[in-house]
Amino acid sequence: MAPYALEDRLSWRWWVTPKPLKDKPIHRWFVFPHSFTSELVHALIDEWGLTPKDRILDPFVGAGTTLLAAKEKGVPATGYDLLPLAVLTSRVKITDYQIPRLVDLWHSLQKNLDLTQWSLPSKSYPPLVEQALPGDFLKVFDGIAQTITSTPMFDHERDFFSLALVSIIPQYSKAVATGGWLKWIHTKKDAKSIPNSFANKVNMMLEDLNNSSSGNGPFWHVRVADARKLPEKDANFTAVITSPPYPNRHDYTRIFGVELMFGFLDWVETRQVRYQSFHSHPEARPLRGNIAGYAQPERLSQILNGLKKKGMIPRILSMLAGYFLDMYLSLREVRRVCQKGAQIAFIVGNAQYLGEPIQVDELTAEIGEQAGLLCEKIIAVRFRGNSAQQMGKYGRLPSRESIVIFKKN
Ligand SMILES: C[S@@+](CC[C@H](N)C(=O)[O-])C[C@H]1O[C@@H](n2cnc3c(N)ncnc32)[C@H](O)[C@@H]1O
Repeated sequence: MAPYALEDRLSWRWWVTPKPLKDKPIHRWFVFPHSFTSELVHALIDEWGLTPKDRILDPFVGAGTTLLAAKEKGVPATGYDLLPLAVLTSRVKITDYQIPRLVDLWHSLQKNLDLTQWSLPSKSYPPLVEQALPGDFLKVFDGIAQTITSTPMFDHERDFFSLALVSIIPQYSKAVATGGWLKWIHTKKDAKSIPNSFANKVNMMLEDLNNSSSGNGPFWHVRVADARKLPEKDANFTAVITSPPYPNRHDYTRIFGVELMFGFLDWVETRQVRYQSFHSHPEARPLRGNIAGYAQPERLSQILNGLKKKGMIPRILSMLAGYFLDMYLSLREVRRVCQKGAQIAFIVGNAQYLGEPIQVDELTAEIGEQAGLLCEKIIAVRFRGNSAQQMGKYGRLPSRESIVIFKKN
């Protein structure tokens, strides 16, 4: 493996965690477990000297941090994601609203939020939703959703209220995301308080809109698409700031299963997204199209052989092999849609399995070069400790989180 320039920038360590977003206007409306922060995007925009003439791409848009942070700086940006929840979240955050109209709509919606009106959910939901929101809980969530649907308003306004509703589901769900998994819990919440929580969320969102002053205009977009095959013409972007899923087995269609099947997809569609997602979890089995040009890095083959000898299960071995193939396909696509001279930042996290470190950043650098990009450097921003269980078995082995910087030459 070629030696790539490695720079330490641990002062950025908080910027690759979602925590700071939870206090930031608009960003806080919905945060993904692996979101990075707006400071990171702002810093890269400043470092690269991007202006309103540039155009940033985020092919793994998640909660839309890159798009909203780019909007805050007045730099046009486009995002894609496989998850409709990610696309709704990002779209609602970057839309320009007429605030007085939203406030009027909110008043008329509130008049119709009458718990006594709702008897049974308007449709049947997948079992996960019915178990996570049993009885009155689903009845009230469904009742509010129906009220939003039946109140006349524009689509972008309906999206605003729908996101407010979906975002409070974790407060009531009996299935909560802890790390990468859903855990079943007992909640002492009362379904009668759901309209109140919804009102608090809408009021908080309206307050954020009143206090924010980002750029506006038709320069920020987001759509559902696969990062390995973007609906974009060649040479359209001057920069990329993105973070593909980490190879940590977390499956967003499970973490957000209740939200997805409450508001967007049925069970079969959810499973299709699960299969088609980046091979960062063992249940993915994506259809990939043309994979020409990829050669599995020698270092990766050694790691996989070592893991096989240690008894690693085949599903994880094929996940890891597929993960780096997907990394190649998305980097190849990034190269195609970027102009010459484009600056590209891939935020990645190293991993370890059975005590064997996997240098995702260095492998990504090598794979990016296979895809025709030039790796300028790897910026190490954070070291994460391994789990207590792994530490007990293999000792302390912190994993690096890094920004792999490429240029299209
Ligand atoms: C680490 S998260 C991105 C977080 C984002 N940077 C933020 O700040 O919120 C990775 C995202 O990649 C999406 N994803 C997974 N497979 C994908 C694919 N094949 N194409 C596009 N997006 C995909 C996931 O749905 C998830 O939203």
